[in-house]
Order: sequence, then C-alpha cells, then structure tokens
Amino acid sequence: MPKFYIETVGCQMNVLDSEQAVAGLRRCGFERTTDKKDADIILFNTCSVRQHAEDKVYSALGRLKHWKELHPNGIIGVLGCMAQKDQKLIFQRAPFVDLVLGPGQLDKLPGIICDFLQTNTAGCRLPAANLLQVSLTRLEHRHSDVADSFQQYDPLRDAGSRKNKFQAMVRIMFGCDKFCTYCIVPKVRGPEQSRPPKEILDEVKILADEGVLEITLLGQTVNSYKYLNGGTCSVKLADLLYQISEVNGIRRIRFVTNYPIGIDDDLLFAVRDLPKVAPYLHVPAQSGSDSVLKRMKRQYTVPQYKELVEKIYATVPDAAITSDFIVGFCGETDEEFQATVDLVKFARFKNSFIFKYSERPGTKAAELYADNVPEEIKKERNNELLRIQDEIGLELNKTFISKEVEILVDGKTGKGGTSSAANVQLSGRTACDRIVVFDSPDDSLIGQFIKRRIADAAPFTLFG
Ligand code: 5AD
Ligand code: SF4
Repeated sequence: MPKFYIETVGCQMNVLDSEQAVAGLRRCGFERTTDKKDADIILFNTCSVRQHAEDKVYSALGRLKHWKELHPNGIIGVLGCMAQKDQKLIFQRAPFVDLVLGPGQLDKLPGIICDFLQTNTAGCRLPAANLLQVSLTRLEHRHSDVADSFQQYDPLRDAGSRKNKFQAMVRIMFGCDKFCTYCIVPKVRGPEQSRPPKEILDEVKILADEGVLEITLLGQTVNSYKYLNGGTCSVKLADLLYQISEVNGIRRIRFVTNYPIGIDDDLLFAVRDLPKVAPYLHVPAQSGSDSVLKRMKRQYTVPQYKELVEKIYATVPDAAITSDFIVGFCGETDEEFQATVDLVKFARFKNSFIFKYSERPGTKAAELYADNVPEEIKKERNNELLRIQDEIGLELNKTFISKEVEILVDGKTGKGGTSSAANVQLSGRTACDRIVVFDSPDDSLIGQFIKRRIADAAPFTLFG
C-alpha cells in the first residue's frame, strides 16, 4: 500500500486533527512513514494564527517542487487552517499541490486519496488534480449552513495514532465565536459548536478501556461548552467534568483553552471538588492594558481579569494559572506594555506563552489598525516579559523543593542521565502541569503515576 507522511504545525487542535487523519488513512490500509523520501503522499496540516507558521509551510512546499518532478504520481496535500484561509492561493503559489482540504473536511481525506490513486493508476490523473474542498464562509452564508459545512468529525482513533497509549485529547467543541480582532481562528475554524455529552462520554469510556489515564478536553473557548437540549442549557463544562470523573480508569482530566469570561463558580467548584480534575487553568489574558484589550475586542477589563485570578486562587489555592500574551499589538505604547508587565506580576502565572503580534489579513485588526510597533520593539517587549515571567516561574517552582509530588511519567527527555551513565532521564507532569525530570535506571516507569521528591527547580522544570 502507498505510504503517507504528515507534518503538523500549530495548536493541540491540529495535533488531534492529524491523529484523526492518520487513523482514517490507516483504516483504509495506508501506511505511515516518518521519512519524506519514502512517501507516496505528503501532507501538511497547517496553522494560520501567525504569519511565521504559514511561511514555514510555503517554504516546505517550495522544496517539494523537485520531489513532484521525480514522483509525478505522488500526492501533495495542504490540510487545515491555511487551506481554509488561502484556498486557491495555495495552488497559485505552489501549482504542484494536488489537494487543499479545510479543517472541516478532514473526514473526506481517505476517500479523496483513494480516488486520486485510482485515477493515477488508470493513467488519467488530471481530472482529480488540484482538488479544493473547504467549508462555507461566514460572510456569504447562513450561520446554520456554515456550521453544517464544518463536519462534526470525531470518529474514534486507533491508539497507535496518539502520542502514547496513556494520554489522549478529546475535542468537546469546534470553532469560536469571539472574534478577537487579531485572530483568524473564527474565520478558519467556523462557528462555535458543542458536541453532545453522550458522544464525548462514549469516546472517553473507549479511551479508558484502551488504557488512557489522562484526558485533555479541547475547545478554542472550552469553558463556553454548552450543550442545549430543547432550548435550555442542559450540560455545561462543569457538568461534563462531573460525568467524565465517573469513568473508571481515567485518573486525570484537563481542559484547555479558557476564555476569561464565563469561568463561573460551578466550574471552579468542580475543579476544587473533583479529585481527578487537574488544578490547572490556562486563561489567556492577551494584555494587561484596558485600552489594548478594547482594541483587541476582548470582552473583559483588567480589573475583571484580576478579580478572576483572585477568585481562582481563593477557591482552588493550589491552582496553577497560565496565560497567553500578545506584545506589540497595533499602537501598543510603552505604558500599555508596562500594564501587561504589572498584570504578569500580579497574577503570578505558572508560565505564559508570549507572542509578537502578527498581522493576519482578513481580521478586523488588519482592517482597522496599523501594525505599527517596530519589530525591534516587539522583540524587546517579548524578551522583557519572558524575563519577568521566568523570575516568577522560578520563585513558584522553588516552593516545591523538598516536597513530594505525584507525576504521570510521559517520556524520556532526550538528554542522558546526570547521576550515572547507565541512567536515562525521564520526564512527567504534576496535576498542576509542572514538568518534573528525574533519573531512572530504565524507561519502565513511562505511563505510570509515581511520586518524586523535588531536589531543585528552574523556571520551567522541577528536578526530582
Ligand atoms: N498574532 C500573534 N499572536 C496571536 N495569537 C492569536 N492571534 C495572533 C496574532 N495575530 C495568540 C494568542 C492566542 C494564541 C493561541 O495565539 O495569544 O491565545
Ligand atoms: Fe482567537 Fe479570541 Fe477565539 Fe481565542 S477567543 S480563538 S484568541 S478569536
């Protein structure tokens, strides 16, 4: 059978999409290879959140021109967010691409690849070439039609397509309706839709039977999860956490990403009261300045965000909070940036993901505001915020020294052992998502919950 190679850029949603694409292709008998040279089919699952991620895919495609000349019957496919955003532009920039498939069409991938191969073997390739399938766009179509055009695609995966046997992601929502002005996601991932709780629970039970211990629930704004039954809100994220907690075998439950509005008491009580739910909340603030938040069309103010942070720490005292920030957003002044520094100091995040603003054509910010903070300043602000965040991360991590923590060991670090040449260095995560590395005689602890006493700490890592 033909072999496929798949490269994935972007967020956990994309990683899960790729797992499902891999599972679908395998079910049809295709074999996965990790070596491009070996492949008959080369696929890129792409991201559009920042320009850099797109540039990387276009240059990788550029390098494949020669491959296509050598393998005229080989198939090159661009999948995911960039496919939905750029559509025909991809064929213009890389005419040798065969297939452009949006994130809502991935269920069709195996069938399309089979059709391609059939036409190829029949020697009449062209009718199927340059195939473009994407979802309807919001501006031109009715909301329900657009929602339907993003396939609610979540078939069960084979365990082999996941990173390992004991951790799994489960999508509980699709899309986003927030329309932050800088963000392309609502355009490429479509309207917010919550999956029925029964479907989610069935999936979790099967995963638990396959030996999964840790589940990460995914949604672009996961705390907006709401399954409506007959017009009344019947199941919210908090309810879902209670239901999933009942599943035997599952020992740890995480959920990402939260929007700062809509983290209600019920959700915080569920995090506090359910032992399986990790005391870890990723709640992107994006900026610590009210004027910037307004330009970003985030729907909260800095005082509201601070109040939320206080409430999280008061309700779940051992909670770890993490955030995302964009520095150098349109018109960001030194004072506005300073307000972000102040918020990072106030909130004492476990860590923050910091991004330099990248203008995305098709977003409101690109239409309304100039991307006028020079690259040099963006870099400086990025480094400055990272430095402050690292100091806080280190202070918080030091409080763990000499304490015992429970971790799920998830793999090797790739570095050799430190105490003895015979050792391997393993790594795992605590419930509050802290990375713990430690030496072990072998890798037999991978996939197990174990206790380790912490000997030392760095900004991102604890040493057991
Ligand atoms: N430029 C830079 N960062 C962005 N993000 C989203 N859109 C952009 C953009 N245009 C960041 C936000 C979001 C994270 C996933 O990516 O911080 O939370
Ligand atoms: Fe993008 Fe805002 Fe939706 Fe997050 S909430 S995906 S930043 S539009």
